[in-house]
Amino acid sequence: MPLYHQLGQFPQKRHTQFRQPDGSLYHEQLFGTIGFDGMSSLLYHLRRPTQVRDIVSSVDVSPKVAEAKHIKSRKLVGFNVPPEDDFLDSRKALLVNKTVQIGVAAPRKSLTDYFYKNADSDELLFIHRGTGTLRTLLGNIPFEYGDYLLIPRGMIYQIEFDTEDNRILYCESTDPIYTPKRYRNHFGQLLESSPFCERDLKLPQDLETHDETGEFTIKIKKQGMLHEVVYASHPFDVVGWDGYNFPYGFSIHNFEPITGRVHQPPPVHQTFETKSFVVCSFVPRLYDYHPLSIPAPYNHSNIDSDEMLYYVDGDFMSRTGIGPGYISLHPGGIPHGPHPGTYEGSIGHKGTEELAVMIDTFAPLAVTEEALKIDTGDYHQSWL
Ligand SMILES: [Fe+2]
Repeated sequence: MPLYHQLGQFPQKRHTQFRQPDGSLYHEQLFGTIGFDGMSSLLYHLRRPTQVRDIVSSVDVSPKVAEAKHIKSRKLVGFNVPPEDDFLDSRKALLVNKTVQIGVAAPRKSLTDYFYKNADSDELLFIHRGTGTLRTLLGNIPFEYGDYLLIPRGMIYQIEFDTEDNRILYCESTDPIYTPKRYRNHFGQLLESSPFCERDLKLPQDLETHDETGEFTIKIKKQGMLHEVVYASHPFDVVGWDGYNFPYGFSIHNFEPITGRVHQPPPVHQTFETKSFVVCSFVPRLYDYHPLSIPAPYNHSNIDSDEMLYYVDGDFMSRTGIGPGYISLHPGGIPHGPHPGTYEGSIGHKGTEELAVMIDTFAPLAVTEEALKIDTGDYHQSWL
């Protein structure tokens, strides 16, 4: 996050002696991304963060691709993915390519028995149902309906849910996920024209410092494998840190829509970006106010992008037969547009209550076996 944040205690000068009450040194760790070029934070641990006791197992958790090359528009029923107790088991990758995995999850239980770290990808969780706390080695972030949680690669975390009724859209990206560069000035500050600003971000708080030794399992995702690694001390033993590399939250309800006299293109809804895809938030907003405007979108040919839309709430203006948790995939190569009746039907309406998350990828998305299980099958013919 191009924003400086700090929690706890650390020395005034970096890379200098910082001593514990018993006179021993705290253990400094530079936690950076993109080699030493990306954003980084400096952490101070009670114990060395390198104390691996054992590597217990390594399991291949790569998604199973069912259709790698296709041209079929699809409608998936996300809520038909059955709930599972374990947070990682519950995650079902649906649409994937070399740099991104998009899926849904319905975890029933909090992740407390082990810790998790994704060393391959930044993770973006969108909370559709449920409340709780994301607990990380850099502090905690309470979450609720509508929150995006951005967890940079390598962050060790657990997640606690208040109830068993949880629904999450998630995205794993091997390219770092940032706020759009065009929303930021030369210094990284979000511009006045940005649909959100720094005040809207939920930064980590309540740093937990656990002084415990023993056996602590971290499940580490790397190269599509899940390695179970046992460490000799509690992973949350940081007494202080500062820097730019940390998890944060942002509520979709704080995205301020940009509207116009005539239909505005999807980039006005953009919330995050990477080198290989964008994430857009469609939120309740006033419709276009030209006297002859047509609020529903025109047919469009995203010829070289795949478009995934996750429907959260409200009546989606350009689609019929859509409910919360539904996912549509409009693959590149063919045009798509509003369903019959919705284009004309949108005329004269003053606003929409729709809430949706869109992920447009610049490389085609393969469809997984898990996706076929919740595919309605005939969506590609729904414009006839
Ligand atoms: Fe579209």
